[in-house]
Amino acid sequence: ETVEWDPEQAGKGEYDHFMLKEINEQPTALAQALEGRIDPDTGRIALSDFEPGTFEDIESVQFVACGTSYHAALYGSLALNQAGVQSTALLANEYSVSAPPIDDDTLVVAVTQSGETADTLNALRHAADEGASTVTVTNVVGSTAAREADEALFIRAGPEIGVAATKTFSSQAVMLTLLGQRIAADQRGDPSADRSSLLAELAAMPDAIEDMLAVSDAEAIADQYANSQSYFFIGRGLGFSVALEGALKFKEITYEHAEGFASGELKHGPLALVTPDTPVFAVFTGEEDEKTLKNAEEAQTRGAPVIAVCPADHRAVEVADEHLEIPETDSDLAGLLANVQLQLVSYYAADLLDRPIDKPRNLAKSVTVE
Ligand code: AGP
Repeated sequence: ETVEWDPEQAGKGEYDHFMLKEINEQPTALAQALEGRIDPDTGRIALSDFEPGTFEDIESVQFVACGTSYHAALYGSLALNQAGVQSTALLANEYSVSAPPIDDDTLVVAVTQSGETADTLNALRHAADEGASTVTVTNVVGSTAAREADEALFIRAGPEIGVAATKTFSSQAVMLTLLGQRIAADQRGDPSADRSSLLAELAAMPDAIEDMLAVSDAEAIADQYANSQSYFFIGRGLGFSVALEGALKFKEITYEHAEGFASGELKHGPLALVTPDTPVFAVFTGEEDEKTLKNAEEAQTRGAPVIAVCPADHRAVEVADEHLEIPETDSDLAGLLANVQLQLVSYYAADLLDRPIDKPRNLAKSVTVE
């Protein structure tokens, strides 16, 4: 009998949804983002569009973005600060009313997967009008952002069909880590990045994600905590940007209430919401993350189940009720691995609720209106 060719199913391959396909495409997407951009011999970040020394006169970096791209921008900004370069991440839709001072030694980086987000384009134009140098990190060649920024860095993630951004968050965060290392190297006047361990771990990321995807317990965790009253995500430093992203992913495809917090913020209010029916996903990005452990325990003593997202030998495994394992890696990259686990938790939670995962209600893939 003839089988009707369904182009949409063909696009999904063996997966039920584009989102799950795109989560599983991350090893390939990251390998493409990294391709030819780290010189294995010198450790130099070779961002093809920029000559050595391009960034040596830059005094400050402002990242502007919306939604998931804002969380990637926050990740990039925290990484840049850790590399000793003054930077901040700002919501594009707030930028024209709250931008810090901009002048010709300011670099403004617009992070936008589609390159068409109206709020982000407006921020880019505002920055250019104020005399900043502008770069965009985007997934779409020929997009408005790519055409209007002084320079464009392409994340090469391939088309992302699911409205909920997954692989493009990871590729943007990796791209911003490379950009941050390159800016820091130019400012030191030394083309080779001094974080050879970070670069080696970056190069190993595709395989680390591949291995983790193969053994993830995210589906069982999603099943165990289905129908909870609300979902908390907490983290510190780079883990904070991942907590925000984990909560956004969860709310936008399950329609359940979820919120991300800096770990230390719980006792300043949100702890009042904690009950035995508010599972807390705690993202650990390094051994020294006492604050996240302490606050996870605070929630736990109020009855909330804690799911630790951390390596197998982390102390949090003993404290938490459940564990989503991530491979050992550089503390600057652990958040990216944790984020993949949280993407899967959201996906399976939404699937249990029979949500239209690839096209959530009220949302568009690219918000081209203000
Ligand atoms: C995230 O899953 C959403 N798709 C949304 O927040 C998105 O990240 C935001 O609208 C920004 O889009 P952009 O990266 O194309 O600018």
